[in-house]
Amino acid sequence: MKIITLTVNGNTVQKAVSDRTHLGDFLRDVVQLTGTHLGCEHGVCGACTVLLDGEPVRACITYAVACEGRAITTIEGYESDPVMSRLRAAFQTHHALQCGYCTPGMLATARDIILRLPQADEQRVRIELAGNLCRCTGYMGIVAAILAVLQDLREYPDAQVQLLRVAIAEGRAEPIDAPRLAQAFTSFEAKRQLGKLSESSEQPPVRPIGMGGVADTQGRDQQVQQKGTKVNASFDVPFGLEAVWTFMSDLKAVASCLPGAQIDSETSEQVTGNIAIKFGPMAASFKGSAKIERDAAQHVAVLKGTGQDSVSQSRATGDVRYQLEALSATSTRVAVELLYTLQGPLAQFSRSGLVQEFVRRMVADFGKNVSQRLAYPDTHKAAQAQAINPIGVMLSILWQKIKSLFGVR
Ligand code: FES
Ligand code: FES
Repeated sequence: MKIITLTVNGNTVQKAVSDRTHLGDFLRDVVQLTGTHLGCEHGVCGACTVLLDGEPVRACITYAVACEGRAITTIEGYESDPVMSRLRAAFQTHHALQCGYCTPGMLATARDIILRLPQADEQRVRIELAGNLCRCTGYMGIVAAILAVLQDLREYPDAQVQLLRVAIAEGRAEPIDAPRLAQAFTSFEAKRQLGKLSESSEQPPVRPIGMGGVADTQGRDQQVQQKGTKVNASFDVPFGLEAVWTFMSDLKAVASCLPGAQIDSETSEQVTGNIAIKFGPMAASFKGSAKIERDAAQHVAVLKGTGQDSVSQSRATGDVRYQLEALSATSTRVAVELLYTLQGPLAQFSRSGLVQEFVRRMVADFGKNVSQRLAYPDTHKAAQAQAINPIGVMLSILWQKIKSLFGVR
């Protein structure tokens, strides 16, 4: 017998084991964690899959003594895991288990797929799952559940999951580190509420303009399911950081560069106006107001607005966040993040790639106009609402998809 010390689900465990004891027996019989199931005990069925330093291994063909000093995660150890909480819900929705015998191992493998292969399609998921057998043969539900989680994360990126993906890609099995997450993903909203952007810091710090569940600044887990569509875009302007920041702080000047936008009234914190858009035969004119928050030190600003289309009566709510970054003394990058929801007849467009492409084109046009205005400050002609050719947009999306299919960036 040997005394071994290892970490199981974050707890230090020190026990005496024989050289021949495999990890599955050790977990079940010695540590009393019976969620790890044993099927074939030959490394074939995958029922015993657990994480060893973050990587899936067969517990039945891993000696416990070989795990000295290592970290094991079993099915009992995923309480606050952001991927596993999604998988649990998806397994339930898609009826991905019958007797449940294979489920602990399936979930461990599924989690690995979600983290390692964000773009996996059905065929790839099935190949990755080939080492996990379900004696109830419930593969369709299992595959559907995994694909649903992958799709959801593509539509609504989750900061915690992203951090785990980075850790895996870097070969680290880092457990969820809430303070670090909080630091890495403190959003503009969180900063504001922490008093960095305004004096009113009485509200509790909250997490963010993120899409998924994330930890708050005190390390608790908050499921902030903020629904909406996020579009990121950026443009570079051949002027210095301060010149661009000054220009971007002048909302009338900004509106004159945004195709179709017009400002009716403006204070230092609030603006009202409208924006007209045309997309093929579709035309809309949103009238509304927005609050502005600026962090001059960070060169970040957020407009939080709502508006209504006078024709379709569709309502839009959204945050436009932009951040400036100096690329050189004479060049600045403007990163724009748009998070929006649409309600009403136009909502059918809200998640489509068409709208995302539309917004990116608008941002690109806006960038060109900003450069133009900075170069020729006396030009006061407002940018007109441009009719964007939907066929061109669709071809562009198709091209992007073809490129991603072949791994071309
Ligand atoms: S019990 Fe370990 S692979 Fe089957
Ligand atoms: S659900 Fe029964 S073995 Fe998979």
